Amino acid sequence: MAKLSILLAPLFAILPFVASAPAQSAKSSGPVLPLDDPFYKPPEGFESLPPGSILRHRLPPKPIAALGFAKANVEAAHQFLYRTTDTHGNAIATVSTILIPHNADYSKVLSYQVAEDSAAPNCAPSYAFQLEAAYDGAIGMVMPQLELLLIGAALDKGWVVTVPDHLGPKAAFLASKVSGQAVLDNLRAAIHSSNITNITNPTFTMWGYSGGSMASGFAAELQPTYAPELNIAGAALGGTVPSIPPVLQKVNKGLYVGLIPAGVQGLANEYPEIQQLINENIKPEMMDDFKKTQTMCLAGDIVHYLGRDIYNYTSNPDIFTTPTAKRIMDENAMGHNIPKIPLFVYKSVGDDVSPVNDTDAVVQTYCKGGANVEYRRDQLSNHAVLAGTGAPDAMIWLNNRMHNRPIEPGCHTSTSLTSLLDPHAIWALGTEVISVLKSLLSAPLGPGVVG
Ligand SMILES: *[C@@H]1O[C@H](CO)[C@@H](O)[C@H](O)[C@H]1NC(C)=O
Ligand SMILES: *[C@@H]1O[C@H](CO)[C@@H](O)[C@H](O)[C@H]1NC(C)=O
Ligand SMILES: *[C@@H]1O[C@H](CO)[C@@H](O)[C@H](O)[C@H]1NC(C)=O
Ligand SMILES: *[C@@H]1O[C@H](CO)[C@@H](O)[C@H](O)[C@H]1NC(C)=O
Repeated sequence: MAKLSILLAPLFAILPFVASAPAQSAKSSGPVLPLDDPFYKPPEGFESLPPGSILRHRLPPKPIAALGFAKANVEAAHQFLYRTTDTHGNAIATVSTILIPHNADYSKVLSYQVAEDSAAPNCAPSYAFQLEAAYDGAIGMVMPQLELLLIGAALDKGWVVTVPDHLGPKAAFLASKVSGQAVLDNLRAAIHSSNITNITNPTFTMWGYSGGSMASGFAAELQPTYAPELNIAGAALGGTVPSIPPVLQKVNKGLYVGLIPAGVQGLANEYPEIQQLINENIKPEMMDDFKKTQTMCLAGDIVHYLGRDIYNYTSNPDIFTTPTAKRIMDENAMGHNIPKIPLFVYKSVGDDVSPVNDTDAVVQTYCKGGANVEYRRDQLSNHAVLAGTGAPDAMIWLNNRMHNRPIEPGCHTSTSLTSLLDPHAIWALGTEVISVLKSLLSAPLGPGVVG
């Protein structure tokens, strides 16, 4: 029952904001879906422009108001289509949303990577942010609402926030190399946007939880080779998912099974070999059900596949350990490169999506390689809960990086109880967000699902 209440939380939490807009009318009056929107299609010849080039700009067609907070706090919002690079080195284009608060400090820019965690391109955050898109009857809630609160807290600090559609135009969930490159190019695009956004000499930081930490972590790992000119002050990675195979074991038949078909399809969207693996190894009678991830967002996937056994979909029980599957999952695992920028890593000891020892191991790899890592292991939480309770510490750490305060060099690991009740938490997120978090965390509702 406890699990079910965590699951239902995002649905309840979003209801107040859609109560007057039933799913049907939301669809007819909402923004055009990304797959149908020409803004998302790059202009001819864009391939020859350098990564991070801005290809199109517009004001969001509908107000940025997915949660109501932004309506009050955002001075301006912009969408940019920019050039980035896929796994195979080909030019692609994706969109970032740049949110500018009142009284903005244009020299502080946070790149926030949403845990979109979906194989459906229509779940892109650039779409999900807009009024009437936050909940869509057809594709389910498109954005974890907790993340909107955290973005709101960053805006309240006066930081400009850029949110890339880091899964790219094909929703390549788990193809984290694409995500890392899309994040780095979104920083370049933010620099190029200065005559529109007023961003000047920015200190950049990056933040993401779960799926968002994979994108942020890959950006940190790839930065020395892909974007060495970028000056990034640090990245906060929460609920890290360093590699995929342990997740398969952990989530099957439980609350988060939906991450498996969504992740396999996300990889297939980027790698034809994985699509072939699906075609050859999913039972024909289960194929339609397996393919539903192509049109559902995270919450929809979690509800649809709740408690299922993924091995009931496959005719080959070794599908995930074939050489092709192993090679591609390994390519998209963290730890192949050592980040040069400082990291703050926070992880629940009881994480029920990705086991904590996998993160212990990747932190150790980084530390042996000479990285600067502050690693907090949290005892009183699970994967969804730490997305909320870990946020104040992450925010405080990011704020220190934004102000260019010195870091403690080397690696520092600590294991502690929750930090949510710390008085600094109120400074970090504001009394309003903290009170929402506390009410979400107390029974009967858990925080919004963050996969
Ligand atoms: C911003 O500058 C770029 C070239 O650097 C130019 O192409 C673009 O039109 C400018 N935009 C505005 C709104 O001035
Ligand atoms: C950028 O600065 C100009 C004046 O310097 C101001 O008019 C404009 O509103 C600012 N734009 C944003 C997005 O803050
Ligand atoms: C398992 O797969 C069979 C088809 O092979 C299907 O009929 C059955 O409904 C599935 N069971 C579950 C629990 O999904
Ligand atoms: C984590 O623990 C599991 C179960 O004990 C073990 O199979 C796995 O190899 C460990 N992973 C790492 C990276 O040490």
